[in-house]
Amino acid sequence: MAISMDELWKQFCENLTNADSSEAFEQLRIRYLGKKGEITGLLKNMGALAADQRREYGQKVNELKERTEKAITEKAMQAHVKEVERKIAMTPKFDLTQPLKLEEGSYHPITLVQRDCEKIFASMGFTIEDYDEIVDDYHCFEALNIPKHHPARDMQDTYYLTNGQLLKTHTSAAQNAIMRKYGAPLRAIFPGRCFRNESTDACHENTFFQMEGIMIDENISISNLIYFMKTMLSEVFQRDIKVRLRPGFFPFVEPGFELDISCLICGGKGCPSCKNSGWLELCPCGMIHPNVLKAGGIDTEKYTGFAFGLGLTRLAMMKYGIKDIRDLNSGNLKSLSQFVQ
Ligand code: PHE
Repeated sequence: MAISMDELWKQFCENLTNADSSEAFEQLRIRYLGKKGEITGLLKNMGALAADQRREYGQKVNELKERTEKAITEKAMQAHVKEVERKIAMTPKFDLTQPLKLEEGSYHPITLVQRDCEKIFASMGFTIEDYDEIVDDYHCFEALNIPKHHPARDMQDTYYLTNGQLLKTHTSAAQNAIMRKYGAPLRAIFPGRCFRNESTDACHENTFFQMEGIMIDENISISNLIYFMKTMLSEVFQRDIKVRLRPGFFPFVEPGFELDISCLICGGKGCPSCKNSGWLELCPCGMIHPNVLKAGGIDTEKYTGFAFGLGLTRLAMMKYGIKDIRDLNSGNLKSLSQFVQ
């Protein structure tokens, strides 16, 4: 005597309750719904039925098939969700707020010097700005009073992209955008990575860091520039630093200077490190050229300002006595991990 549909369903439900893995669900599917499955097999009984009962019987078998299919799928889904939840619960928790363990890493010397400078300038009312590394010709050159074919461009060859943009050669490339963003009065510093198409040696790299600063207000003069630079450098080196200005040419400042600091090794007496001059060249700077202020939308009748381009890479080398600039980009943990702070 063939098993009834009700009995088959009951038996299936019991088996389903005991199934707990994807293989078990698949086996049940084959056992009941496969080509030779038990429910599929019920259709074979059709032949024994009277013609008017076949239709109803067929419908019932199909309904049982659907119910069985649905029950297996639902249970399999639930089991899958449970499995995922179990895996999540087993994953070790990652706490973003945990402080960095110093034995696992250290800050790059340039990051350390940059943070020092940022802290000092922030305490003097400067905001810290970020800017792109990929810029256009206008921002890197033209807005800075360096028209196309100006010889000053020769000093700053860089890497050009196929769309005409370029990798910025100096942080001055951000001056125009920052003036336009905030207007005057303005005090801002903007550290950044710069690029130049240069061959490398112990003192030159194609990738280096600068920190630009600008201050624009009424009655800003060179004495303000000297004061801010002296204060900042004395803080960074933790000692009184003497500074001096020499004339220097940059199309975006007028007058332009090279700022030197008293030699850190001999204190200004003269030694091999400073070629016996007592001074080290550190930071080009000057009073912002009126054309640059105008391009930035600043009223030149009312405002003047100074700008400086501090070589952060250079500063890090001086502060930590690093002799070869290439060590800084080498990723050599042996030399870089000495600078834990
Ligand atoms: N941008 C110049 C350079 O990288 C430096 C500079 C900045 C000079 C600001 C004057 C004023 O060569």
